[in-house]
Amino acid sequence: MKYVDFVNMAYTPEEADVICTFFVEPKAISIEEAAGGVAAESSIGTWTELTTVKPYVEKLAANVFSIEGNIVKIAYPLELFEPGNMPNILSSISGNVFGLEALNNLRLDDVHFPPELIRSFKGPKYGIEGVRNLLGIHDRPLVGTIIKPKLGLNPPDHAQVAYEAWVGGCDVVKDDENLSSQKFSPFEDRLIKTLEARDKAEAETGERKVYMVNITGVTQEMLRRAEFVLDQGGEYIMVDILTCGFSALQELREQDFDLVIHAHRAGHAAFTKNPKHGVSMRVIAKAARMIGVDQLHVGAVVGKMSETRVEVEENREAIMAGMDDLKRVLPVASGGLHPGLVPALIDFFDTDFIIQAGGGIHGHKDGTLAGAKAMRQAVDATLKKIPLSEYAESHGELRTALQIWGSHM
Ligand code: 3PG
Ligand code: 3PG
Ligand code: MG
Repeated sequence: MKYVDFVNMAYTPEEADVICTFFVEPKAISIEEAAGGVAAESSIGTWTELTTVKPYVEKLAANVFSIEGNIVKIAYPLELFEPGNMPNILSSISGNVFGLEALNNLRLDDVHFPPELIRSFKGPKYGIEGVRNLLGIHDRPLVGTIIKPKLGLNPPDHAQVAYEAWVGGCDVVKDDENLSSQKFSPFEDRLIKTLEARDKAEAETGERKVYMVNITGVTQEMLRRAEFVLDQGGEYIMVDILTCGFSALQELREQDFDLVIHAHRAGHAAFTKNPKHGVSMRVIAKAARMIGVDQLHVGAVVGKMSETRVEVEENREAIMAGMDDLKRVLPVASGGLHPGLVPALIDFFDTDFIIQAGGGIHGHKDGTLAGAKAMRQAVDATLKKIPLSEYAESHGELRTALQIWGSHM
């Protein structure tokens, strides 16, 4: 079969097909040949005709069934994939094709997985409802912080900053993506001290508090750390899903621990940032949801990171819209957030999300406790539909935060 033999515009996709939407930019060939090339190389074909293709193999060819400008849709028969094996699926639909010399650019923009394939994965154990039940918070966004400086604090100082954030009003404290078990902060010591601080903060505030400790590491060590979290009475683990890889994430989810999985996507922009090449965040989000994360970073619309509003909306939809009977994943907004941005965040996300602020809490000039208070005040004001500037007249922490960082709406 030649590349163009994989173009079959009369093909009607079957319900069980995997359907991918690609942006295809050919170099010196037609869009039809380029699209066929992508379908060939990601299913049964190669650059030349083969003597080894049997008739039963031909039936497994992917079909290009739509080409509109540079937007190409390809349907893949389910039999091409091993159920419950995300690395295998991605090696086909987002594998060698990105390197084809004949293409200037190629982006996997979206993928539709059929129920048969979705059901071969565990999916989220908790999802939005489970997380809300755990925390007993049902009507507002969760407020969280990332301990800053992101690296360097020793366990007692880390725990003290966490304690202040919780007492000030944060529900969630999490480690940063590059904190694991360095010499300055061994995992076990940090976990034990920070959970002690959590217990103290819960007793003092009467509110539920959670610590999302970063267990990122090589797989066996990650599993050991997760078990240690369980032993110590933690409810959450955080994993850098892209640097650990989908196989490690799957292995972790397969253990079925009673632990909420917070998925950090450090490194995603290497795949997602170029609008013409790579893999979109929504594809990564769908894969992570199928495997079974409970919370995922989706971008923030405002703040220091560059994703567009449209992208964040797509990412959010990927984890919250109906997808067979998978639970919905809780979106996390993070990166350069501060109290002044809360109205814009709630306007976009409504209440089902976590607001994560590092600098926007620990950068408050009166310290972490005041910073956390200011963030909760901004959430309260926004939900009561009171302008931040007005609420700030009677809430000093918010007033100071607005003086430092301004407000967005
Ligand atoms: C993201 O959304 O990926 C972030 O900007 C980084 O999240 P973090 O605040 O948890 O590191
Ligand atoms: C990051 O790593 O970028 C963050 O954890 C977000 O931190 P920030 O709220 O200080 O931007
Ligand atoms: Mg971070």
